Amino acid sequence: MVDLRANYGVDAPAVLAGLALGGVAELALAAVTFAIGWPILGVVLLIGGLILIIGAALFAHTTFRGKFRIWDAELDRLAFKGDERVLDLGCGRGLVLLRAAAKVPKGKVTGLDLWTRDQSGNSQDAAWANARAEGVADRVELVTGDMRSLPFEDATFDLVVSSLAVHNIPDADGRAKAVSEAFRVLKPGGRLRLADFRNARDYAEVLRECGAEDVRVYDLGWRFWYGGPQGRTSMIAARRP
Ligand SMILES: C[S@@+](CC[C@H](N)C(=O)[O-])C[C@H]1O[C@@H](n2cnc3c(N)ncnc32)[C@H](O)[C@@H]1O
Repeated sequence: MVDLRANYGVDAPAVLAGLALGGVAELALAAVTFAIGWPILGVVLLIGGLILIIGAALFAHTTFRGKFRIWDAELDRLAFKGDERVLDLGCGRGLVLLRAAAKVPKGKVTGLDLWTRDQSGNSQDAAWANARAEGVADRVELVTGDMRSLPFEDATFDLVVSSLAVHNIPDADGRAKAVSEAFRVLKPGGRLRLADFRNARDYAEVLRECGAEDVRVYDLGWRFWYGGPQGRTSMIAARRP
């Protein structure tokens, strides 16, 4: 049976829960300290609690709505022909992958993931259910793999995308390997769009060392903040000559 609605889960659910629960706990403690006559500590806890609650609200906005709007705009700007081959690194439940699939009715999109962590309920089954719900399953391929060692030939894809996935690799060498692998599988003239909330300048440097052209890093704005400006997301854009 075809699922009626896609469900893209929650990025880093433990972080969102921590912000929300921490905020509620600090507000409750603030109420207690006011009640027992410690107003200065109460004000400090009140401010801290409000900051955490606002952070949770911003995080929830990003994961449920903001990143969808930002990626819609990014993909619109790419002006697809409709027959491209697209790779999404760390596709999770398929948010970017399936939006790209809608742009390539005669093409093919490949989602690669280890389906391990950093998004609620991420699995091949969840991504397939979303592909069916979005009506694009006919042009989707899902691969279990590690972005540090891509199981694809050189120059396979017209576009490589990735959203909030590369930072999950714990070491700088591993992240550099993932970025250089993304470049390796791009066709000449192929484009890369990699969104992440850390290490953007490092990724850009790796791409320049690989020989990429038009390498740009730009801020994606408050709609892609994970909890506040300290969790802002940047886009790294590049093209293979
Ligand atoms: C925060 S989720 C983002 C998922 C999706 N891109 C999105 O924006 O909805 C990060 C994803 O990266 C995947 N991931 C982490 N390390 C990976 C690796 N080395 N290779 C492939 N996927 C990886 C995780 O399993 C997870 O699905």
